[in-house]
Amino acid sequence: MEQKTFTISYKNFSDISELESADKVLCERAVRALDTSYSPYSQFRVGAAVQLNDGSIVTGSNQENVAYPSGLCAERVALFGIGASKPTAIIEKMAITAQTNNFKIMNPITSCGACLQVMAEFEQKQKKEIEVLFYCIGGEVVKVSSIKNLLPFTFVEERLGK
Ligand code: THU
Repeated sequence: MEQKTFTISYKNFSDISELESADKVLCERAVRALDTSYSPYSQFRVGAAVQLNDGSIVTGSNQENVAYPSGLCAERVALFGIGASKPTAIIEKMAITAQTNNFKIMNPITSCGACLQVMAEFEQKQKKEIEVLFYCIGGEVVKVSSIKNLLPFTFVEERLGK
């Protein structure tokens, strides 16, 4: 037996003003995407903004459904939209934020496991790391340089793609 350890790395910013300007813009676009959230069941709005290498930003928001599992998270709405409409685009980075009228969100919300898995697939497909920013409105920002920091034991089976 050998004891092994993963080290994951992330940056913590105390305020959005500490970010480089492109990251700040992306966080602000994620906030704007909250307006399109359809979340009558959870009343929890999530916005995602994705920066592509062609300079464009694609946004997404959570879209809920009365049959709960039929809804989709903001991250996957944005990413699958890119996969369908701009399949050759390279994703540089993405920002995620959340808001609800029901309580004060005190920390950056991090993506669910299913969204991390989808992010991991995009990273693998494009063979380029994707930066991810989690932004708490009026508070801190967490930034990672790759999905590998969020999902160190990503499911990988290259033979399935052959
Ligand atoms: N949600 C997201 O949009 N992204 C995540 O990574 C986690 C959760 C949404 C799903 C649902 O509409 C609401 O947040 C409450 O779970």
